[in-house]
Amino acid sequence: MFTVNVDLGERSYPIFIGNDLLNDADLIQPYLGEGRVLIITNDVVAPLYLEQLKQLLTPRQVEEVILPDGEVHKTLATISHIYDVLLRGKYDRNTILIALGGGVVGDITGFAAATYLRGINFIQIPTTLLAQVDSSVGGKTGVNHELGKNMIGAFYQPRCVIADIDLLRSLPQREIKAGLAEVLKYGLVYDASFFSWLTQNSELIGKADPSMMSRVVKTCCETKADIVAKDEKESGIRALLNLGHTFGHAIETASGYGTWLHGETVAMGMVMAADLSSRLGWLDKAQARSIRRVIEENYGMPALPPADISVQQYLDLMSSDKKAEKGDIRFVLLRSIGDAVVEGGIDRNLLEETLLAGDQLCL
Ligand code: NAD
Ligand code: GLY
Repeated sequence: MFTVNVDLGERSYPIFIGNDLLNDADLIQPYLGEGRVLIITNDVVAPLYLEQLKQLLTPRQVEEVILPDGEVHKTLATISHIYDVLLRGKYDRNTILIALGGGVVGDITGFAAATYLRGINFIQIPTTLLAQVDSSVGGKTGVNHELGKNMIGAFYQPRCVIADIDLLRSLPQREIKAGLAEVLKYGLVYDASFFSWLTQNSELIGKADPSMMSRVVKTCCETKADIVAKDEKESGIRALLNLGHTFGHAIETASGYGTWLHGETVAMGMVMAADLSSRLGWLDKAQARSIRRVIEENYGMPALPPADISVQQYLDLMSSDKKAEKGDIRFVLLRSIGDAVVEGGIDRNLLEETLLAGDQLCL
């Protein structure tokens, strides 16, 4: 087992990464506190792992909320349902919530924990690759609004994160690939040698081969922990973790939540960001082409955005991106693989060329 620490003073916490962790009662015990435990999960994950988690927590009194699965349920209505359960059940301030699920369950649970009684503790048990490498770490919690993705939320850190690699065995291949988009992101923004390792080992990593997954999750969590410790509330360097997300969130919102997986739109968005970076003359054309090749060919992810989103739709949606300042859209762009920057004031003509490039992106 590896432990990666997120250093945030008295709100510091460990990320435990390894096999068979959902059978290790001693691991979770010190983080539970003395109060009641409420597990938040969904109707796909519950039949797979809820009993195992409840077993782990015996003899504690444990209850659960089983949400309907899907990004479409990452809403204030779902948060309200959790508040109803907590209030009707007279859960007090010593209660701890446990998020058992992917990024959707984790973001919802974290936001419910951040806001119920002005804040109660929570633990993340991420069950998707995307959640293990990204969403369970760093304390971004929240829900979507029909006018924009993740527009309502709070920074609120968990007590610990337990990333059991074995839980990834039941994950569908499409979900593995969506998680791998966020994995590639870390290489692109921060670590060129990690990107080339991911390129060289794409056959095994693309299948989530267990021999590779611990290193993948550990490297991503180390990178994210380092960035979050330097910039918890995203006033600077943390914004780099949004490579591909400005385009990606626009695609996700325009297509209707749930049409594309979050990670799939991040993959498309990273190709668009590479294309724009190369049109600006910042990123070498050969590197832009290789980014598209790795995403599309090595990893078989969707690399091209849907053709039915107009330039105007993109501009409207991207101008309400959280990084936008006074209507100026700010993008995470690449100077080279492993070296990213956040820039505004981007030439409108070049941006429109990227939005209209279709299958010519990065070529
Ligand atoms: P998800 O939570 O919808 O999970 C994907 C699917 O896999 C769901 O159907 C889920 O029920 C199922 N599933 C979960 N674990 C499983 C398992 N072990 N076996 C089989 N099926 C399983 O999606 P996701 O990709 O995990 O997360 C995406 C969400 O995360 C988005 O809402 C995105 O905005 C958010 N996100 C948040 C952050 C953050 O920093 N908070 C970062 C990245 C993404
Ligand atoms: N997923 C981007 C972040 O946590 O900042």
